[in-house]
Amino acid sequence: MPIEQEGQYNLLDNHSQAVRALMAAVEHTLGPKGMDTMLIGENGDIVLTNDGVTILNLMEVNHPVARLLIQGVNGQQKAVGDGTTTTTLLAGEIILQGLEQIRKGVPTAQVIKGIEQAVEQACQQMKAEAFQIENLQDGRLYHAAHIAGRENEEIAQLILAGAQLIGEEQLYRENFLLADRVASLEGVESQVFEGVLIEKKRLHIAMPTELEGDLSILVLDDALEPEELDKQALTTESGFQRYLAIKEEFKEQIANLIQSGVQAVFVDRGVDGVAEEMLADAGVFVAARVPHRQLLDLAEYTGAKLIRRTTLNQKTELLRQHFGQAKHIIENEKLGHIKISGGQGKPLATILIGASTAEVAREKERIAKDAAASLQSAFLHGITAGGGARELAAARYLEQYRNELQGLSAFGVDCVIAALKKPFMQIVTNAGFNALEKLTEVYQQQQSNPNLALDCDTGKVVDLLEAGIIDPVYVKIHALRTAGEVATAILRVHIIVKKRISE
Ligand SMILES: Nc1ncnc2c1ncn2[C@@H]1O[C@H](COP(=O)(O)OP(=O)(O)OP(=O)(O)O)[C@@H](O)[C@H]1O
Ligand SMILES: [Mg+2]
Repeated sequence: MPIEQEGQYNLLDNHSQAVRALMAAVEHTLGPKGMDTMLIGENGDIVLTNDGVTILNLMEVNHPVARLLIQGVNGQQKAVGDGTTTTTLLAGEIILQGLEQIRKGVPTAQVIKGIEQAVEQACQQMKAEAFQIENLQDGRLYHAAHIAGRENEEIAQLILAGAQLIGEEQLYRENFLLADRVASLEGVESQVFEGVLIEKKRLHIAMPTELEGDLSILVLDDALEPEELDKQALTTESGFQRYLAIKEEFKEQIANLIQSGVQAVFVDRGVDGVAEEMLADAGVFVAARVPHRQLLDLAEYTGAKLIRRTTLNQKTELLRQHFGQAKHIIENEKLGHIKISGGQGKPLATILIGASTAEVAREKERIAKDAAASLQSAFLHGITAGGGARELAAARYLEQYRNELQGLSAFGVDCVIAALKKPFMQIVTNAGFNALEKLTEVYQQQQSNPNLALDCDTGKVVDLLEAGIIDPVYVKIHALRTAGEVATAILRVHIIVKKRISE
């Protein structure tokens, strides 16, 4: 064998080993019977998780090919927030199969061409055969949230109720993420309410804790403080006079604000002591240092325009045009949050996940966000059978497609066919069944119904759509596309050179 070729084979082996190691770290976590991985840090710190992307990002990885694969999986997480283990397995298997074909002598370019064609075909077929969701009353939305939310019924119910309160129009908006409506708090009962939550207390105990009626609300994306003069200027007589004048002007601004009839003011930053007292005396509700995200939500929900403090110089009629409106503001003094409802802007709801400790609340929040992302994706792009059924059906479809192909790219299609069998086989293995046996059984029966796969509790072949085991189709399409892109990028690498250390 020529030295050059031998070197290449060593590299291919090396690639295979790196990819196998990554697959081994996550494959046992896939599906309802998946196990957790325990990651141990240098100081003995421990992370327990069954989230594919979390494992890959925490494990020690040096191989450049493995790093490339992890980057792709991170892309999946960012774009759809789920399906990262599936992406790893699909990409890994395409790469392993592709390397095998190259080793057999199929030209790399043909393998890559076949993989790209197959991925495109399979994605189009998955899209065409997805089941669309017509409205928010469709029961399948609950199942999409339930499966993505680790089969937690309470969370799935809350997410569905939240989506229904918010309504279809918002869910369709490009920048609206249902997952952003999920918050968690220690010590509260889980609940959904129409409105927004501000995780702050009112500024002063003399201010009201509850307001009801047609409430005018000002949202200030700034500090409610007088303008600052630089220290140098203060040492001169004219500077000091200017300082006094600014303080007076500021008081006038606050008096003007009170005059405008505002009942609640939410401020991004701090509030000056004089302003605080004047507003408290006038019975105005004020919250300061409101997290920016919550301030934006409040403005959207009440129809308020975010203003800077210079706007406070405007005449009261003009100032009022920036106000938002709501019907009810109430502070929970003990738990330190404020609820605003009856907003007159865009509809919003808050899905509040409670737990007895902060850590459990955060873990439940992560699950609830997955469930919310899944429900919204299902609503927007449709659903498909879970449990690896859809991938198997796509593999069967590609087998037909391959038969019509001429040329060596058919070997690339074979790589994708093999990879698409992997999620089913892994879910089944993790549930304690013989994957090859079950694959043969399901593959044959799928001829009459592509939604068949295994009920992991009983080991029987069932229609997963009927069983409520469904996934948003976009998660699957994105997973396969990402896997194809990562795999072909890696197969193109025939040489690795270490970069010079930059000075
Ligand atoms: N009860 C069930 N029976 C069969 N398959 C199920 C069941 N519940 C979930 N699944 C399937 O498990 C797969 C998802 O598993 P999992 O959530 O572990 O991995 P992932 O979504 O690919 O990655 P990650 O969640 O780590 O980002 C989907 O194909 C889903 O349909
Ligand atoms: Mg998942």
